[in-house]
Amino acid sequence: MKESLETLREEIPDRIAHCETGPEIEHLRVEYLGRKGKLTLLLRGLRDLPPEERPQAGEQLNRLRRVTEEQIAARLAELKGREKERILSEERVDITLPGSRWERGRIHPLTLVMDEIIDVFAGMGFEIARGPDIEDDYHNFEALNMPKDHPARDMQDTFFVSGECLLRTHTSPVQIRVMESRKPPLQIIAPGAVYRHDDDATHSPMFHQVEGFMVDSDISFADLKGVLTHFIRQIFRPETKVRFRPSFFPFTEPSAEIDIQCVLCGGEGTSQEGQTCRVCKGSGWLEILGAGMIDPQVFRFVGYDPEKVSGFAFGMGVERIAMLKFGIEDIRLFFQNDIRFLRQFR
Ligand code: FA5
Repeated sequence: MKESLETLREEIPDRIAHCETGPEIEHLRVEYLGRKGKLTLLLRGLRDLPPEERPQAGEQLNRLRRVTEEQIAARLAELKGREKERILSEERVDITLPGSRWERGRIHPLTLVMDEIIDVFAGMGFEIARGPDIEDDYHNFEALNMPKDHPARDMQDTFFVSGECLLRTHTSPVQIRVMESRKPPLQIIAPGAVYRHDDDATHSPMFHQVEGFMVDSDISFADLKGVLTHFIRQIFRPETKVRFRPSFFPFTEPSAEIDIQCVLCGGEGTSQEGQTCRVCKGSGWLEILGAGMIDPQVFRFVGYDPEKVSGFAFGMGVERIAMLKFGIEDIRLFFQNDIRFLRQFR
């Protein structure tokens, strides 16, 4: 017992001094003071000593235990202090470093143009309606007077989802949905994304259209002309010249395509240097809208009497208008999210 006590007295302080981490200290505490620890076992062995030796041995062992506990606590405190200093020095915040700047977001140019278009029509009393991006064949084609084998279906190369479901190729199906559920008078615009199997500098597989239509008892082509001319002069310049050209859409009769005077050459067809204008390719005009008087057949599909109601409809590509307004030549720039491009628009 005496020898063991001496050994521990020498060994323990040395071992404690060599501990470098909290877990090492804990390990050592268990080794000496745990339930089966070396010092604990010695204390338990007291009862095997002759009675006259017990008090002295007991006192020495208890003192060693107390001292050991104190030394462990002191070393632990020392290690914790050191760790804290390490963290404070290594993780110090250098308050003299310049702060990181928050980039201020901008509204996307397409949203800017879309909002502007909506504002102009809202000013003329048009109401906003929306329809689903995933449409059925009936609303996208059939009820718009394009039966299954109609060649006009090819004008809008379609992404089919499954069976009768497809990604709408235009916003015109919203006309059908609104007329199916409401009665005239109607004065509606329907903005939204549309999808076509197209991909080049002026055609994107996903783009945006704004549909518009007005239905009442005596709507004429003059109303269509008045509304669209006002719209164009608000979006472009007030003096912009507008031209209505005969065209064809299966859901309008008569149909027209609407051109505006070229935004770059002002209708001259040539640049100031006398070269052919690169925007209008020399024609002096740019096509921006499709429109017409709603076909009687479409009214029959939605249960209106074409003898009692008339109306006009139009549809425009938002990207096309944005490209003309901002002088952008490649539609793909809108979707690449290049911050250098996006930060130019306010
Ligand atoms: C239509 O989509 C008709 N629904 C418009 C309409 C509505 C006519 C109501 C009459 C009455 P169109 O296929 O021409 O028509 O498309 C309209 C506009 O969408 C085009 O003038 C063009 O600006 C734009 N557009 C068409 N395809 C793309 C494309 N892939 N990427 C970007 N813009 C496109």
